[in-house]
Amino acid sequence: MYLTPEEEKMSNGEYGETIRKSMDILIALGDIYEAERFVDISSAQVSGVSYKTIGQAGLEYLEDLATDKSAKASIPATLNPAGVDLDHWKELGFSEFFAGKQNDIVDAYGKLGITTLCTCTPYLIGNVPRFAEHVSWSESSAVAYVNSVIGARTNREGGPGALAAAIVGKTPLYGFHLDENRKANLVVNVESELSGVDFGALGYAVGQVVGDGVPYFKLQDQKVKNENLKALGAALASSGAVALYQVENITPEYKNMDIGNAEETITITKEDIGDTKAKLSTSNEVPDLVCLGCPHASLEEIKDLAAIVEGKKIKNELWICTSVNIKAAAERMGYLQAIEEAGGHIVCDTCMVVAPIEDLGYKVIGVNSAKAANYVPNMSGIDVVYDEAKNLIQFE
Ligand code: F3S
Repeated sequence: MYLTPEEEKMSNGEYGETIRKSMDILIALGDIYEAERFVDISSAQVSGVSYKTIGQAGLEYLEDLATDKSAKASIPATLNPAGVDLDHWKELGFSEFFAGKQNDIVDAYGKLGITTLCTCTPYLIGNVPRFAEHVSWSESSAVAYVNSVIGARTNREGGPGALAAAIVGKTPLYGFHLDENRKANLVVNVESELSGVDFGALGYAVGQVVGDGVPYFKLQDQKVKNENLKALGAALASSGAVALYQVENITPEYKNMDIGNAEETITITKEDIGDTKAKLSTSNEVPDLVCLGCPHASLEEIKDLAAIVEGKKIKNELWICTSVNIKAAAERMGYLQAIEEAGGHIVCDTCMVVAPIEDLGYKVIGVNSAKAANYVPNMSGIDVVYDEAKNLIQFE
C-alpha cells in the first residue's frame, strides 16, 4: 500500500504510539483488501461500546490507548449504543457494577476525542456526511443508511478499524469507497404495497438471499419515509451483510446501478412478506416489555408513539430507545411527558440488543424491528413478538 511521506511518519511512530498503533490496524486492513492507498475521511462512527460486547479486555484496551494524551480523534466521530442509559440506568434496573464499567468505557472514548453521543442513528443528530464523502462507520444499520440513503461511502468497519480511522482521519481505499463496487447485483421486484413492519420483513427476506451483495428494489409507487428506509437497511444488514442498497426513484445513486448487468432478479409478494413477519416472532404471548427504536427512534417516530399512548395507561413496560438529543427534542415537544404519563420510558444511549436485558427478568419482548427480532433471541435468550407498536402495547 502506498504511503505518503506524512503517512510514513505516522506509521513510524513520529506522532506517538497511539497513532502508530492506529496506522498498523489500517495498513493491515488495506493489505488484506488490496487497497492501493489511503483516502481522507470526514466522519467516523465507532462501535464496540457496550460492556456486554467488549468486556473487561475491551475496556482495558481503550484505557491504555487513552493514556496517550497526544492522540485524539482528528475528525468528527460519535459512538454506537452503550449497554445502559448512561443517566437513568438505575431506574431501569441495571446493576451498579455494569453501569460503572460502561461509564468507564464511554469516558475512555471521550478522552480519545470521540463525541460521547451513543447512537446507531448519528445521521439524525448532526453526524451527517455529504453525498460522495468518504467516511468510516461501523454500526451495520448506519452503514447501510449512510451509503444508500445519503450516498456517502463506507465499508462495514469493525470497531477498532473505525476508531483507528477516527484518530488518523483516513481509511484504506477499497470496497464501497470505489465506484466499481457500488453496482447492484440483485434486482428485487416488490409486488406488495408496504407499510410499517413490512419494510423490515422485506429487508430480512432479501438479506438472506443477497448476502453481502447490493440489492436494487423496485417498489410499488407509494410513499416511502426515511424511517422506512432506516428499518429496511437495518434488516438487510442483519439477515445478510448488506452495506449498500438502492431503491428506484428514491436513493440518490439508483441511476448509476447498471441493473442490466445484475446477476439475478427475484420477486417478493405480499405472501412472502406475511410469511417473513410470522417467522420473525418466536412467541405468540403478550410481551411483558415492548422495546422500540431499533435503529434508534427519530423524533417523528416518537411523535407517532406519543399519539398512540397519550391519555392512556400502558399495562406492559414500554421502552423507546433513542439518543439524548432526540429525547431532548421530544421533551420540548411534549411527547416525552405524554409517554411518561402513560407509564412508558424514552431510554437513551442503549438498546434491547446491546443492553444486558436478560438480567432484568423479562420473558417476551415486543419489537417492531426485524433486526431486533433477529438478534434478541440469540443474544439474550428471550422470545420476541414482531408486530406494529400499536398491537404490541397493551392498555389498562
Ligand atoms: Fe441500533 Fe441496537 Fe438496533 S445498535 S440498530 S438499536 S440493535
